[in-house]
Amino acid sequence: MKQLRVIQVGYGTVGGAVIEQIAGHRAAWQERLQLDVLVVAFGGRGGAVCVDVEDGIDDDECRERVRQRRDGGGATRATSEWEAVISASVSHGPTIVMDAAAGDETATLNAAALEQGAGVVLSNKAPLALPLDDPRSAIMWAGARSNGRLRYEATVGAGLPVISTLHTLLDTGDEMLEISGMLSGTFGAIFSDVASGTLFSEAVRTVKEAGFTEPDPRDDLSGLDVARKALILARTTGHQVDLTGIDVRSFVPADLAEGSIDGFLDGLGRMDDEIGTMASDAEAGGGVMKYVASVDARGAVKVGLQSVSKGTVMGALTGPENVVSFRTDRYDQYPTVVSGPGAGAAVTAAGMIGDMLRLGQTVGHA
Ligand SMILES: NC(=O)c1ccc[n+]([C@@H]2O[C@H](COP(=O)([O-])OP(=O)(O)OC[C@H]3O[C@@H](n4cnc5c(N)ncnc54)[C@H](OP(=O)(O)O)[C@@H]3O)[C@@H](O)[C@H]2O)c1
Repeated sequence: MKQLRVIQVGYGTVGGAVIEQIAGHRAAWQERLQLDVLVVAFGGRGGAVCVDVEDGIDDDECRERVRQRRDGGGATRATSEWEAVISASVSHGPTIVMDAAAGDETATLNAAALEQGAGVVLSNKAPLALPLDDPRSAIMWAGARSNGRLRYEATVGAGLPVISTLHTLLDTGDEMLEISGMLSGTFGAIFSDVASGTLFSEAVRTVKEAGFTEPDPRDDLSGLDVARKALILARTTGHQVDLTGIDVRSFVPADLAEGSIDGFLDGLGRMDDEIGTMASDAEAGGGVMKYVASVDARGAVKVGLQSVSKGTVMGALTGPENVVSFRTDRYDQYPTVVSGPGAGAAVTAAGMIGDMLRLGQTVGHA
C-alpha cells in the first residue's frame, strides 16, 4: 500500500477540518484506494507544533490539538521550521503540503516543497496572487497546470468543482469566451438584502452579525478576496495578469481603511444613497444588482457591481451562494455553470482533500 505524508500548514477553521477529515477517512482510503495517508506535521505561524515524519501523528493526538486550538487553549508554540519538516518528510516518502494558512508568506515554503518534489494543495489564495515577476510565483504557476504537482481547487468556490471544470474545458481544446461569477458569499448576502429594500450599511451589519463576513468586514468589502479569485481564474486560463491590473470596486473608503470596526460600520451610511439608487435603477430595468467578477477572452478582469437580468442563473441567486459561469466556444448559448455554497470549513476541507487524493496517485513517481 502506498504511503502519503501530509504536512498541514495552518490548522484553523479549514486546516483543522482537513486534519479531522483525514483522521475520519483514513481507514476507508486504505481499503478503497490502497492509500495510507499519514499526517506527519501541522502547525501555524512560525512553524509546526506537532511533528512525526516517520510514523505520522496519532489520530487522537491530531484531533485533540485541533480542539485545543479551537478552544483557545493548549500549547501552540512552534517546535520546527516548515522547510526542515518538508525536507525530512520528503526523504521518508511521497509528501503533500496542504496550505490552509492566510496571507502570501507561505509562498516560500510552497515553492520549496515543489522544488523538492513534494505536492502542494492550497485553499490559501494569496500565494497564487503574488506578482508574476516574483520568482515564487513562477515556480507555483509552473506546477499549477492540470497535470502538475500544485492543486488549488479550494481557492475559488471552496469545495465546488470550479478549477477542475476550467482545466477540463481548456485541456479538451475549448476556447474561453468569458468567465463570470459571484465568488463571494458575503457580497451575495449583502446585495440580496439591498435588493429587498434594506439600506447598504444596515445589510453589512446584519450579514456581519449572521457570521458571513471576516471578523473585520473590511477584509471582504475591499473586494481584494474576490479580485484574488478572479486573478486565479484568469491565470488558469493562461492570461498573464497581476492584481494591480484589475479594476476592483471597493466599499472601504480611504479614510475608514484604518481604525475601529464600529467606526467603519458607522461611516458606511454615506454610501447608502448611491447604492440604493443603483439597486432601484437595476430593478426598473428588470435586473438585480450583484457583485460580479469577470474575465473576458482577452484576459481583462473586472470586479464590481453590475445589474444582472433576473432571468439568468446569476440574477436568480439569493443569499450567500456562489456561482461561476463558463461561456466557451462549445458552451456559448448555454454556458456551463457551477454553483453552490462557496465557503465553510467542511466543504473547503473536502475541496483540499479531493486535490490531495488525486495528487496522491502520482506524487513521488517523478
Ligand atoms: N473559511 C472558509 O470558508 C474558506 C473558504 C475558502 C478558502 N479559505 C481560505 O483558507 C485559508 C484558511 O482559512 P481559515 O478560515 O481556516 O483561517 P483561520 O481559521 O484564521 O486559520 C488560519 C491558520 O493559518 C495559520 N497561519 C496564518 N499565517 C500563517 C503563516 N504565515 N504561516 C503558517 N501558518 C499561518 C494560522 O496560524 P496560528 O495557528 O499560528 O494562528 C492558523 O492556523 C485562508 O487563506 C482562507 O482565505 C477559507
